[in-house]
Amino acid sequence: MYRANPTDGAAWVTGASSGIGRGVALELARRGYKVLATARRQAELEKLALEAKGLAGQIIPAPGDIADRQGQETLVDRMELEHGPLALAFLNAGTYVPDPLGEFGGEGFRETFNLNVFGTVNSLAPLVRRMGARRKGQIAVMSSVAGYGGMPRSISYSASKSAIIAMCEALKFDLDKDGVTLQIVCPGFVKTPLTSLNTFEMPFLMELDEATRRICDGFEKAGFEIAFPRRMAWSLKFLNMLPYSMYFSILRKRTGDA
Ligand SMILES: NC(=O)c1ccc[n+]([C@@H]2O[C@H](COP(=O)([O-])OP(=O)(O)OC[C@H]3O[C@@H](n4cnc5c(N)ncnc54)[C@H](OP(=O)(O)O)[C@@H]3O)[C@@H](O)[C@H]2O)c1
Repeated sequence: MYRANPTDGAAWVTGASSGIGRGVALELARRGYKVLATARRQAELEKLALEAKGLAGQIIPAPGDIADRQGQETLVDRMELEHGPLALAFLNAGTYVPDPLGEFGGEGFRETFNLNVFGTVNSLAPLVRRMGARRKGQIAVMSSVAGYGGMPRSISYSASKSAIIAMCEALKFDLDKDGVTLQIVCPGFVKTPLTSLNTFEMPFLMELDEATRRICDGFEKAGFEIAFPRRMAWSLKFLNMLPYSMYFSILRKRTGDA
């Protein structure tokens, strides 16, 4: 499998203005990459670029909205024109919108799918074409352990992250033939502005620095999946192999959703 390195080209990180994307952009710059950083809040990206001054690599703001399909095509064109072929992409931008049953199928549900699924596809499609044509590149797509199966309080979120996992599994068959490395990233709970809004208990909550280090190490060494914390990821994988009666009963107890 091809592994990107800073001498092969720039790295692109979406959702880089906050949380995991911001942390990974800084860590990649520390590891020598020129990082093109995308999010809607340009002012945050500019602060990030300043914070990276003095690191081995650099961060360059590349603002954009992943929900804008044509905008993402244009952004990838422009980044490659100005900075050369992208070697690595981390498609991380996404959201969690609580969707209580009373709001099932409403705006929150649509926002989650629009961003987590279609937004990701908007960034992924131009990369697949370009990296496929040159038979070189590495793409990591953000999912979540919540995508392994349906989780309480995560109706649209679990569904959107499952869609990402299944899509990437299917896409890998084709990208392997084209020499492009595809990975999925499945974290448990990580301390970020997104999870700071959660009012429920978050087991195995991980510090951001630890999560970003694991993700960047995973770009260098892991196989198809970068999943952590391992105890949480493997427990949930195992739960999904059990009969549904056990799956629901164990998850109800473990998440306090009785
Ligand atoms: N934190 C966790 O525990 C956890 C666990 C598993 C998976 N994840 C996944 O990790 C990813 C990042 O989560 P996080 O916790 O770091 O959240 P976060 O701090 O809220 O960061 C989300 C990032 O996405 C960007 N974003 C949102 N909408 C966008 C849009 N339309 N176009 C471009 N960028 C957009 C935001 O930037 P702007 O607002 O500036 O656009 C921000 O940079 C998400 O996909 C999330 O599902 C998180």
